Amino acid sequence: MASTTEIIDVTPDQTLMPKLGKSGYSIPQAIAELLDNAIDARIEGELLHIAVTLKAGEITVADDGMGMDREGITNSMILGRSSKRDMLGEFGLGLKTACTSLGKSFSVASSKLSQPFEYVVEYDEERWIGADDCWRMQLTATDREPEHHYTIVRIGSLQRFYAGLPDAVRRDVQRRFAPFIDSGEVQIKINRRISAPEAFDLVEDSRHDFAIADELGYPLTGWYGLLKQGSNKGYYGFHTYRRGRMITTYDKIGIGEHPTISRIIGEIHMDEVPVTHNKREFEKESAEYVAAVRALRTLFIITCTTSLPEDRAARGCSSTRRGSRSVPSRGSASLRL
Ligand SMILES: Nc1ncnc2c1ncn2[C@@H]1O[C@H](COP(=O)(O)OP(=O)(O)OP(=O)(O)O)[C@@H](O)[C@H]1O
Ligand SMILES: [Mg+2]
Repeated sequence: MASTTEIIDVTPDQTLMPKLGKSGYSIPQAIAELLDNAIDARIEGELLHIAVTLKAGEITVADDGMGMDREGITNSMILGRSSKRDMLGEFGLGLKTACTSLGKSFSVASSKLSQPFEYVVEYDEERWIGADDCWRMQLTATDREPEHHYTIVRIGSLQRFYAGLPDAVRRDVQRRFAPFIDSGEVQIKINRRISAPEAFDLVEDSRHDFAIADELGYPLTGWYGLLKQGSNKGYYGFHTYRRGRMITTYDKIGIGEHPTISRIIGEIHMDEVPVTHNKREFEKESAEYVAAVRALRTLFIITCTTSLPEDRAARGCSSTRRGSRSVPSRGSASLRL
């Protein structure tokens, strides 16, 4: 039998770029990708300023981080290319995915500290699809004072916009980037208004910090407390973070869902658990996630079952079982609490 082997060209179809945007991002989630990039570009020891401007025709995210030079901005447009390690970004996709999900055109302008140029790349969906010369972009360099350092991402021809968007983005940012805002490293303005970290109305003395390690030895830290007002709309549970950036909100990880625990609120930091490339969730089948869930279930069961009865009631624990330390099977954790 004769056989031949050849190398074939598998350059992606041009439509991959706009298709990336069909990733199911909400507008705040897409903007969060751009904020992640700004935060990753912050200069050690300096307050990073980020300004998000949301108008009917345009969304802009500007930062005074370290900026990009010619090589940096070229790499920034190459799908899947990233040299980040242990940062918020890792996949080399967020900028393109976020921009194409928000609008049909975008530009990135950037100037790197001590470089005398501003570089601008522009993308327009219609031109991109129609171009013969695919996977190429125009880069413009303009003289700049070398002390300038910034990146401005501007998205036009918006896919979606609604009146309450600035408030929705502000609420999301206040929660999603609370650890960075709290630490004083980052200031984020949404339509000129500074975002403060989210505050919780907790029962006095109900907040408890925790720091444990799971069976793989990875740290899980955070806090939990009791809201004065419970929620019957599911607004309870944990905001989960990876490397200081929120991944999920009102997550019932380790506690399950049940009306009797609708006053529990808290934060869990799981820095070693991998995330999906759109950063909307943790990789739930990873060994790290499974180990984290196991450790958290044990923690919360012990917390509920070993506290005093009146304290238990105040926390929203319905079970009166004491001293039970067994790890329940999936789905039964909520009943224990
Ligand atoms: N605001 C910014 N300031 C400086 N560099 C930036 C900025 N935004 C993007 N970049 C550069 O562009 C690259 C590509 O960004 P992109 O968000 O697509 O990927 P990533 O952040 O590396 O990974 P991920 O897909 O996980 O977000 C980044 O790795 C970074 O080098
Ligand atoms: Mg990114």
